[in-house]
Amino acid sequence: MVALTGAGISVESGIPAFRGAQGLWDRFDPMEYATIEAFSADPEKVWRMFSTLLSLLLAAVPNRAHLGLAKLEQAERLRSVITQNVDGLHQAAGSRNVIEYHGNIRELVCLSCWKRFPLAGWSPGDSVPRCECNEILKPDLVLFGEPIPWGAQAAAEAEAKACGALLVIGTSAQVFPACDLPAIARAHGAVVIEINTEETPLTRTTTDLFLKGQASEIMSELVEAMR
Ligand code: APR
Repeated sequence: MVALTGAGISVESGIPAFRGAQGLWDRFDPMEYATIEAFSADPEKVWRMFSTLLSLLLAAVPNRAHLGLAKLEQAERLRSVITQNVDGLHQAAGSRNVIEYHGNIRELVCLSCWKRFPLAGWSPGDSVPRCECNEILKPDLVLFGEPIPWGAQAAAEAEAKACGALLVIGTSAQVFPACDLPAIARAHGAVVIEINTEETPLTRTTTDLFLKGQASEIMSELVEAMR
C-alpha cells in the first residue's frame, strides 16, 4: 500500500486547506501570490503569503492520520507516503519513506546562486531572508509554474505503478501532475481508496472505495482494523 496525501490530512493539525472554507487561497489569490513569476517580479509580496503560511505550518503537530500512516509503515503494511504537503508532519509523525512532491519549507534556496539555507532561525515577522549575494531567498517549495523536483516525480510514479492499493487522503485532486497519480496506480492494477470529507473529481471516476469522513478518524479505524 502507498499513500498520496494532500492538505486535508493536516487540517486537523490546525493548518487550513488551500481550497474550501477558510482556505489559504481565499486570502491570497494563488495566481497572484504563489507563482514563480510573482516571486520573480515581487518576492517581498510573495513573502507576505509565505509568512502567513509558515506561521501556520510551524505551529502544527501531527494528528492521528499522520501517526496512523507511520504505524502502518512500521508494521510494513505501507511502503511510502507521497505528499503534496510541505509541512513536514509525516516525518514528524515517524514516517520514513516520504516523497515530497511539492518540496518542503525546511530549506530556503537562492534562485541566483542556488545556495541553500535552513529555514530554522527565521521567524514570522522577521525581515525577508536574503542570500549572501543579497538575493531574496525562496522556501524550497514548488510554486505554480515550477517543475516538480525530478527525483520526487520519478519516485512517486514508480510507487504508484508498483502498489497494490493507493490510499488517497485529503486532496481535492485538482492540481496536476499529482492528481494523475491515482489513475496511474489504477491503470497498473491498484485498488484506489479515497479518504475525504467530500467527493472529489476522483470519487466517481477513479476511486474504488470512498471512505467519507475526517482523515484522523478513518485512519485510526483503518489501523485498528489492520492490527
Ligand atoms: N479529512 C479528510 N479530508 C479533508 C479534511 C479532513 N479533516 N479537511 C479537508 N479535507 C479535504 C477537502 O475536502 C479537500 O478535498 O482535503 C482536500 C483539500 O484540498 P486542497 O485544499 O485543494 O489541498 P490539496 O489537494 O493538497 O492541494 C493540492 O494545490 O495549492 C496547491 O501546492 C498546493 O499542494 C497543494 C496542491
